[in-house]
Amino acid sequence: MQDHKITKILVSEEEIRAIVQRLGSEITSHYHGIEKELMVVGLLRGSFIFMADLVRQIKVPMVVDFMTLSSYGDGTVSSGDIKVVMDLDSSIEDRDVLLVEDIVDTGRTFSKVIRMLRNRNPRSLKICTFLNKPETRQVDIQINFCGVDIPNEFAVGYGLDYAQGYRNLPYVGVLQP
Ligand code: PRP
Repeated sequence: MQDHKITKILVSEEEIRAIVQRLGSEITSHYHGIEKELMVVGLLRGSFIFMADLVRQIKVPMVVDFMTLSSYGDGTVSSGDIKVVMDLDSSIEDRDVLLVEDIVDTGRTFSKVIRMLRNRNPRSLKICTFLNKPETRQVDIQINFCGVDIPNEFAVGYGLDYAQGYRNLPYVGVLQP
């Protein structure tokens, strides 16, 4: 049941639009003139809404693929136990890969995926996240394209869930504890 209240809006719809547009132009400039299509890889499920908005703001030829990972289970604290539920469909060897996440929290998810994907010899591997929670970072990772830093509060909406709910909120809000 989605019966918790949203106590605060962290990122409004208007702010989301501006952030996505800025990221889209940063990414477009970076990959301008790319040889093969850019491979944009979304980490499901959280990134699906951000990814859909972001790719429409990237003006270079691309293909998309997805991986499903899970780290939180149904709780509000990252369990650290990250599972690959569904792997990529295509090979990334010799390709320019852009990994897309909804949020970097402890950094464990990205760190595991980066290690795994580097072993597959991409031409390049860059990281884009919509939200970043610097206060809770446990693993140091370099984010190449970052949307916005948020404080250590439990964020839901715009793809982010609590017990699989609230992903459809059009903004990012804080859930009442
Ligand atoms: C969330 C989020 C990131 C990860 C970030 O995924 O989408 O993948 O946690 O946390 P970390 O930096 O501490 O590893 P979750 O496991 O909740 O799955 P979801 O994408 O299905 O929401």
